Amino acid sequence: MEVLKNKKTLQDFIERQKEMGKRIGFAPTMGALHKGHLSLYEEARKENDLVISSIFVNPTQFNNPEDLEKYPRDVNRDILILQNSGLVDAVYIPEVADIYPEKTESQHYDFDGLENEMEGKSRPGHFDGVGTVVEELFRQIQPDNAYFGEKDFQQLAIIKKMVEKKKLPIKIKGVSIYRAESGLALSSRNQRLHEDRKEASKIIYEALKKVDSWSKTTTIPDIKEKIQEIFDQQQGMQLEYFLIADEETLKETDFFHEDRSYRAFIVVIVDGVRLIDNMHLS
Ligand code: PAF
Repeated sequence: MEVLKNKKTLQDFIERQKEMGKRIGFAPTMGALHKGHLSLYEEARKENDLVISSIFVNPTQFNNPEDLEKYPRDVNRDILILQNSGLVDAVYIPEVADIYPEKTESQHYDFDGLENEMEGKSRPGHFDGVGTVVEELFRQIQPDNAYFGEKDFQQLAIIKKMVEKKKLPIKIKGVSIYRAESGLALSSRNQRLHEDRKEASKIIYEALKKVDSWSKTTTIPDIKEKIQEIFDQQQGMQLEYFLIADEETLKETDFFHEDRSYRAFIVVIVDGVRLIDNMHLS
């Protein structure tokens, strides 16, 4: 596996691959790799000649400096995981100046309002940061296909919108949420939880499964009340938000319309760690 530590070595590598006509699959990450990331590479392997990942903790997408500081970083461990997986041909680990040659600042994007829902309300500026880094990585890596986990469903929708609006020749592929046996969605942030809190957090997935079943018989305001009650009873957990939204517009709804698809979205703070999850409602 090639470890590409700056833009110049990346450019030389990409040029060689393009000359050979290789089809490139790309999965960007912020490191702290886990099985959820490996599932992105597995998907990418099926559809491309070459799989590239990146590791870059993007400062502009953190609206909370403490969160940025606490974000788990261990590049050597990540490189080992990638090497042992045998799934990735090259990893790009840029310096800040390779992504932000002038100011470490986001561009401003219009994602047709997708950016104003859910995480956009809780984390102002977050999606401008994500858009900026992903667009730059796309321009440098020039992938044919790019893979994003459905755990960050709003991010996935926003990246699809960016590619459409900027007319980038890249197919964006969503990959199903990878869950631990307990049902907890895998996330780099889980590393900050003690084992017993990880175990307790399976309640998030259990609550989402209940929502799916309630959605056939119960009104959305009643479902919201039931969810609030579940989390009120959990020590050390605060429900930041729970809502049901249209899968395409991401707008919250209080009523199911027959011709639309819906998804439940939840954010719970467990011992100060912000856990996010979602589920398509069948
Ligand atoms: O999902 C993430 O890990 C990040 O938001 C991403 C897409 C790598 C951009 O920094």
